[in-house]
Amino acid sequence: MATADDVKARLAQVSAPDGRPVTEAGVLSEILVSDGKVYMSITVDAGEAQAWEPVRAAVERTVRGTPGVTSALVALTAERKAGAAPAGGAQPVRVSGQGGGHSHAGHAHAGHSHAAPGQPPADPQKETPGLPGVGAIIAVASGKGGVGKSTLAANLALGLAASGLRIGLLDADIYGPSVPRLMGLKGRPEVNGRMITPMQAFGLKVMSIGFLVEEETPMIWRGPMVMSAISQMLKEVNWAPLDILVVDMPPGTGDAQLTMAQQVPLAGAVIVSTPQDLALIDARRGIAMFQKVNVPVLGVVENMSYFMCPHCGTRSDVFGHGGARHEAQRLGVPFLGEVPLQMSIRETSDAGLPVVATRPDSPEAGIYRGIAAAVRDSLAGRRGTARAAPRIVMEG
Ligand SMILES: Nc1ncnc2c1ncn2[C@@H]1O[C@H](COP(=O)(O)OP(=O)(O)O)[C@@H](O)[C@H]1O
Ligand SMILES: [Mg+2]
Repeated sequence: MATADDVKARLAQVSAPDGRPVTEAGVLSEILVSDGKVYMSITVDAGEAQAWEPVRAAVERTVRGTPGVTSALVALTAERKAGAAPAGGAQPVRVSGQGGGHSHAGHAHAGHSHAAPGQPPADPQKETPGLPGVGAIIAVASGKGGVGKSTLAANLALGLAASGLRIGLLDADIYGPSVPRLMGLKGRPEVNGRMITPMQAFGLKVMSIGFLVEEETPMIWRGPMVMSAISQMLKEVNWAPLDILVVDMPPGTGDAQLTMAQQVPLAGAVIVSTPQDLALIDARRGIAMFQKVNVPVLGVVENMSYFMCPHCGTRSDVFGHGGARHEAQRLGVPFLGEVPLQMSIRETSDAGLPVVATRPDSPEAGIYRGIAAAVRDSLAGRRGTARAAPRIVMEG
């Protein structure tokens, strides 16, 4: 079996754009080798990303060619130059995370991951190139785990799809990927050369980090490795054409989440919270995190908002419902809706039969479709506002 040192020794032959060996350019992450699979990333200044793409490809080829290596994943991640970002909020806002929104959906340029020369520069907050043929990427996030983030992400995606949009669902929750279970998916996606074909479930294109790693795999992916995986799931999956890609983010507001929010070209974020105070504090952190990286907060959803008794239909406000609505108002972000704590939601989720797809006429499905409509409005409102405001970088 190959070791990280074997790989590194081979990489000394690959040259950086300035001619130095790439191993001496100070850009390589730690090299992780697990069972013949190699994961690593190259982090460069955003402005130099284009020059580095051929180097990334050469590094990946070289790693794959190392005896004992069965597969390799090398991601190029762009970093903002220290001090390059002006302070405050008076920066140009890109209308969507994807260079112009829906009008571009369907115009896939497979293989071109960078903006064409001559286009205006991308939003300085988001140097990450958009995904060709994907209208907008939105994140579903929560300050902590277990609040129903994945259940919401899946049913939100289905609710958006029910209105006729082409929707993808990307499970980026490296700590507990649950989309395969939620969507009743088993097995692995097909890989053609470098590109992965997303799996299909209930009309959605679905990709999960859970398809790439075994459930028992120890959590060795940290820091840049997480970025590599996310980057691959964005760039090396045949998502296009899509109107919206819904990303189930890892819970929490630590460095990993912050970096991810910066790495993924997000058009907006939906924050899921339960009504309890503690969760709301976490939700506040989540909102602050996205605001810090200038990702618009599309709104807050209160999950397990109230209890609907499956026998008598009586509603009980177990957790003192309404906290998230007030908090959203206080923070000036939209409130997108409330989902009851309901047995049928848990049962359908755990059975891989998401309620919006399998019981479209139920009140619960209606609630999720309402939230999907609110998310669309919020996304459209952001675009509308952004269009009217000065100093906008319009693309395309
Ligand atoms: N509104 C709800 N009513 C009942 N059960 C729910 C609801 N939302 C989520 N659940 C259940 O709670 C558990 C955690 O939900 P999940 O979506 O996996 O949370 P997270 O992704 O935040 O960890 C799952 O068993 C799920 O079925
Ligand atoms: Mg989850």
